[in-house]
Amino acid sequence: MKATIIGVPMDLGQNRRGVDMGPSAIRYANLNKKLEEIGVESEDKGNIPVSIPERNDMTGKTIKYPEQIYEACTLLAEQVADQAQEGSIPIVLGGDHSIAMGSIAGMKKAKGEMGVIWIDAHSDLNTFETSPSGNIHGMPLAFSMGCGESNLKDCLEKGQKVKPENTVLIGTREIDPGERELIENTGVKVFTMYDLDKLGMNRVMEEALAIVTSGTDGVHVSLDMDSLDPMEAPGVGTPVKGGINYREAHLAMELLAEKKCLSSIEVVEVNPILDHRNSTANLAVELIASAFGDRVL
Ligand code: ARG
Ligand code: MN
Ligand code: MN
Ligand code: MN
Repeated sequence: MKATIIGVPMDLGQNRRGVDMGPSAIRYANLNKKLEEIGVESEDKGNIPVSIPERNDMTGKTIKYPEQIYEACTLLAEQVADQAQEGSIPIVLGGDHSIAMGSIAGMKKAKGEMGVIWIDAHSDLNTFETSPSGNIHGMPLAFSMGCGESNLKDCLEKGQKVKPENTVLIGTREIDPGERELIENTGVKVFTMYDLDKLGMNRVMEEALAIVTSGTDGVHVSLDMDSLDPMEAPGVGTPVKGGINYREAHLAMELLAEKKCLSSIEVVEVNPILDHRNSTANLAVELIASAFGDRVL
């Protein structure tokens, strides 16, 4: 198996500084060494260039840094598409969740119809009109599904990158009013923490994998580290209590590996400034390894 590591030091999609250091923190947690140990041939392509807040004045603007995020997402999408076309599995390191628009656009270009598993405390289904914060990291899934009005939908090519019927959310526990409406209108499948508690991770992943692999040419996993319980992953900017625990998270990645359908994965929202001794980045590396087939036995 071949993988390509791509860092995106993006912190323009939200307002906690430090998430731009996520790629460094995950590399520092020895991602490349771990991949080598489990027999994955990986190459690190370095970071996608991203603007910094100091160079862009946003006073008076409600939506923050849309042009700068669009630009970085386009560069990321091109890199992701190139790597996937060469038969490698892109591992995208965030940065905040706004970068998912680039990852998904790139995978669509390389593979065709994509399935997406969105593991997150939040649904990230706001648009410019519904966002309570103006933070674009709360919007990438809406734009990727072709909802809302913004050129952020048009990264690499115009419009929808993934169909709602091929998208599954897991671990959801905080949804804004506009997001609730979009879930109803699109019919996208959401497994909330209620569903995880009731059905268990095994059953939820079985159902999720069935949805994202039917009628698609590839599967992208978007892992927001705030999907985990803040006790396991304290280094995130928007923690929400009552999250996925350590064992459930590993099981989800192990079941994914068993299904052998992973085309690309991104791990986002790791903020080393808020972390405890890099524990969130360490966990990110463990989970990536599990997704690539790391097993005790
Ligand atoms: N729903 C909130 C907002 O739109 C929070 C989004 C959090 N997203 C994330 N990727 N952590 O501002
Ligand atoms: Mn998110
Ligand atoms: Mn989140
Ligand atoms: Mn499907």
